[in-house]
This record gives sequence, C-alpha cells and structure tokens, in this order.
Amino acid sequence: MGHEETGAQHDSRARERISRRGFLAGVGAGVGAAGALAMRPAAAIAEVLTPRAAGLATSPDRFGRIFNLPAFADLNAPTLPSALMAMGSPGGILDAKDALDQGPVNLLTNPALSANNPDNPTHTAGTTFMGQFLDHDITFDQTSKLGVPLEPTQAPNVRTPAFDLDSVYGGGPAVSPALYNPADKDKFLVESGGLFEDLPRRADHTAIIADPRNDENLMIAGLQAAFLLFHNRVVDFLRAGGQSGSAFAAAQQLVRWHYQWLILHEFLPLFIGQAMVDDILHNGRRFYRPAFGQAFIPVEFQGAAYRFGHSMVRPSYRANLAGDPGGNPATGAPAFFGLVFDPAGDGQADPVDLRGGARAPRRFIGWQTFFDFGGTFTTALRRNKLIDTHISSPLFHLPVNTIAPGTEPAPVVLAQRNLLRQMTWSMPSGQSIAQALGVAPLWAENFPELQQFGHGLPSSTPLWYYALKEAEVVAGGQTLAGVGARIVGEVFIGLLQLSPTSYLAANPNWRPTLPRRSGAAGDFRLVDLLTFAGVDPTSRGQ
Ligand code: HEM
Repeated sequence: MGHEETGAQHDSRARERISRRGFLAGVGAGVGAAGALAMRPAAAIAEVLTPRAAGLATSPDRFGRIFNLPAFADLNAPTLPSALMAMGSPGGILDAKDALDQGPVNLLTNPALSANNPDNPTHTAGTTFMGQFLDHDITFDQTSKLGVPLEPTQAPNVRTPAFDLDSVYGGGPAVSPALYNPADKDKFLVESGGLFEDLPRRADHTAIIADPRNDENLMIAGLQAAFLLFHNRVVDFLRAGGQSGSAFAAAQQLVRWHYQWLILHEFLPLFIGQAMVDDILHNGRRFYRPAFGQAFIPVEFQGAAYRFGHSMVRPSYRANLAGDPGGNPATGAPAFFGLVFDPAGDGQADPVDLRGGARAPRRFIGWQTFFDFGGTFTTALRRNKLIDTHISSPLFHLPVNTIAPGTEPAPVVLAQRNLLRQMTWSMPSGQSIAQALGVAPLWAENFPELQQFGHGLPSSTPLWYYALKEAEVVAGGQTLAGVGARIVGEVFIGLLQLSPTSYLAANPNWRPTLPRRSGAAGDFRLVDLLTFAGVDPTSRGQ
C-alpha cells in the first residue's frame, strides 16, 4: 500500500483486491451507503472463516481469529507505527479536547465544555463500567507486544472465555483462599473504606481481588465490591431458605445466572441495539460458531470491536453525592467529583481523581448517578458519552497504575495502544469484514480525516476505528452498528450459549428468582442486583 497513493486510488485497489478474492459478489451496490444489506448466505461467509470460528478446532485458553482476511495495511511498512501513533496522539483526531482546566464539576454540568464529546441520551453513566467489568470477565492479554505481529493462537487468554465471573471468584475458596473470609469460606472478604464497603487491600492499598484491572478506577472497583456483597447476601438468602452444607456452589450459580440474565436483557441491547440482539437470537450466529464448550475470544472482538467502550467514558464523574462532608464546597463537596484520571492525583494518598488503588472514606460510589433507581433518584442520573471517534481527553494520559501488570507500561495514551494492537493482531480492515459478510461498508468518503496518515487508511481502516465510525455514522453514536455490532453480538451470545456454566446452555427456560426492587417477577436488572447487595442509595442513606 503506497504511502503516496491517493485515497481514491487506494479505495479502488482495495475494492479490486477484495473483489478478486471473491468477497464482493452481490454486495457492490451497497458500497458507500450507511445501511446494511442482507447478510451473505452462510456458505459464502464460511469461505472467509478460520477453522476455529467454524467449529472445527479450538483451544479456549488462547486467543483466536474469526476471519481469514488480510491485515488492514502492510505491517512491514516502516512508517506504519508512527502513522498510527500520530493518529492516536494527544490533541489529534481522536482526542475530544475536553476543557479539562474547567474542572470535574463544570465538565459534568456544562455540555459546551465538551463540544466534540456529546452525551448519549440512551445510556446512563454506569453502562461504561458494566461494559468494562464484562470485558474483564472474559478477556485478558498479558503476552502480546504493542505493534509486534503475533498469531493470536500463540497468546494465552488469562481469563476464561465465559461470563462465569472468574474475575470475581478466582478459582473458588479452595484454589484462591485469599479472596474468601477465613471465618466463613462460602463468602468473600469485604472491607470498609471508612464509610462504606471497600475491596480488601494490602498495606500498599493494592486490592486483593482475582483480576487487578477491577481496581483500575473507582467505579469498576465499586462494581467489584458490589458483586462480592451480592454473592455474600445470596449465601445468606440460601441459608435462610434452609440450604444445608456449603452454600458456595449454589450461590455461585444463582449469582452467575442473574448476571448472565442482565447481560442479555439489559446491557447487550444498550451496546448493539435490541434489533441486532433479536436477529442473532432468532436467526442464529452467522460467523462465530465454535463447538460447544470450545468458545474462545477472537481478536476482532478483543482488539477492536469491544474496545468501543473507550469512547463511552466521560471526562469526569460525580462518584457520590454526600461522601465528602469535610471537603471543599468550591470543588463540589459534600459530593465527590473528579476527573476520571488527572496527573495531579499521582502520588496522592487520597487522589483528587477517580483512579483506583487507594482507600479513603469518600472513595465509594453513590450509584444513583450511574443507574436509574427510579422515583426522585432519577434526577441524579448522568449520561455516557456517545460511541464515536472521539475519546475523552483524560484517556490520553493514563496513570501508570491503570496499565495492567504484565503489559508494556508505554505509551500511556489509550488510543495509541488500541491502534498499535491492530498491528499486533494483523487486524483485517473494517471494510474487508463488511464485504465478506455482505454488510454495506463505509468507504474513503467517510474517513477524510485519515488521509493525512497515508497507508491507505481511509479505505482500509483499522477495525477499532472503523467500528467507532460505524456507530457514529449509522447509529448516531447511540449503539454500535454494522460490523462492530455483529461481532460484539455474536461473541456475547456465543459465549452465553456455548459455556456449560451458562443458564442459556444448562437451562434456557430459567427465569430470575431473586427478589427485585420493584417490577414484575421473572426479570432482574443491575439496580436489583445493587439493591440486593445493599449498596443502593436507600440502604446507604445517601
Ligand atoms: C476508564 C475506563 C477504561 C480504561 C482506563 C481502560 C483501559 C484499558 C487499557 C489500558 C487496556 C490495555 C490496552 C492495550 O494495551 O492494548 C484496555 C484494554 C481493553 N479494554 Fe479498556 N479501559 C476502560 C474501559 C473499557 C470499556 C468500557 C470497555 C468495553 C465496553 C473496554 C474494553 C477493553 C477491551 C476488550 C480490552 C482488551 C482486554 C484484554 O484482552 O487484555 N475498556 N483498556
């Protein structure tokens, strides 16, 4: 791919190349349009699937790929890494350029300060952190190197590819005793941060939890603590109902199944839209088809489509409404507002920002800002950012402790890491996947901003960026769309259908059984889980 080639020339070469490989039959008419054509017939899609995706051979403890398609660019081109670094640089095209100097309170209340970074009217602010929590349950790459091509099957996935909460349970009380209460091994250890719950911590305040990433920021640490408490209360509930012997295994199954229920019924529709969820459930998965018990995490999901979540993060949040009574009213006290990350927090015992890894009485989450508890609590809700090609500015300067152990410490710019990871996995372009599936691709006219980086990126676009653009252009930033939505939907539903620990596999007619806040029995939402766990605003009294 010539560096000096114009976008139009490259566009036409990319179309020809894909056409020669036989992917174009019947799809050309949709080129450039934003809508989707009917998916290609299964036999045609099968031509571009890897054997693992098609169910022939897998190793669930390794990453894999779905599509047998060429990389988005010539990975040997010496200028490709610097082009991707420029594309993801602070102040560059992906940076939302939020007015961080205006402080966390103003950034939450004055949309004009984030003109490039509008709110998503359909997502509350907690959707981001459940998205991140789900990511940490199923995928963790501690091996591959940024920008260095590696066959995904060479890279172990440290998490089990199932929504089984191994990020919470570890190996269970026998294998991971440090996570559990020595006085009652059916239950987790949970500590106090001063006012409310906190994760158990060592003297240096690192959390004693199964996946270190679940203490990366205050919101995900709050969710982790809520799941620990949820499990403990389910143990109490079962015992009160006459459960004899160890309640651990029965509680674990109830916790997992209620969690899987709300993934399918609450969060996946927020990520990809209800119509796509229904299509995959009713018409089946078209390309993510491992054998039962053989699900694996594909790099098209791990390195690209599911990283859409980075675009939902806000520059600042109100962690709680009344947790900091002794704080400075000029910065919002008694509420605790913070930028999600702020270099000023480096080295502080009780950081000014919302990073994890610290303990102080105000460092807990008042969930009514993040999820809808109804009634008067609804007025406290704040929104996510749209899913688009703009990422909130604090993510262009991550604190070092947000970079997971075992992975390279630099760069600390999340967009640059995501783009270099497209090289690591020899990621296909979004256009080539769209063509292979028969989904109308976005072409160069949708990516004029990429022309300056060369390498033909406007017509052969790295999948991570492509999925963000699809969301922006096709779904107004409210959900993923097209290829990105399909990949996330098929992998989520595939993991739920193909895992032996999942209710959809073991007992598809199962319905939630735990008590709810309100509403009809037989359903369960995250606010019900938080309420059962005792971390809801009524239980906290604030
Ligand atoms: C404040 C919020 C978040 C921060 C600071 C963050 C940070 C990071 C970092 C540093 C990485 C490693 C990047 C690399 O080296 O390639 C990563 C990976 C990833 N992130 Fe995020 N992230 C956040 C939220 C999210 C959300 C909301 C989602 C999805 C909804 C998400 C999905 C992913 C995925 C799928 C990976 C790859 C995980 C793996 O297999 O190792 N992240 N994130």
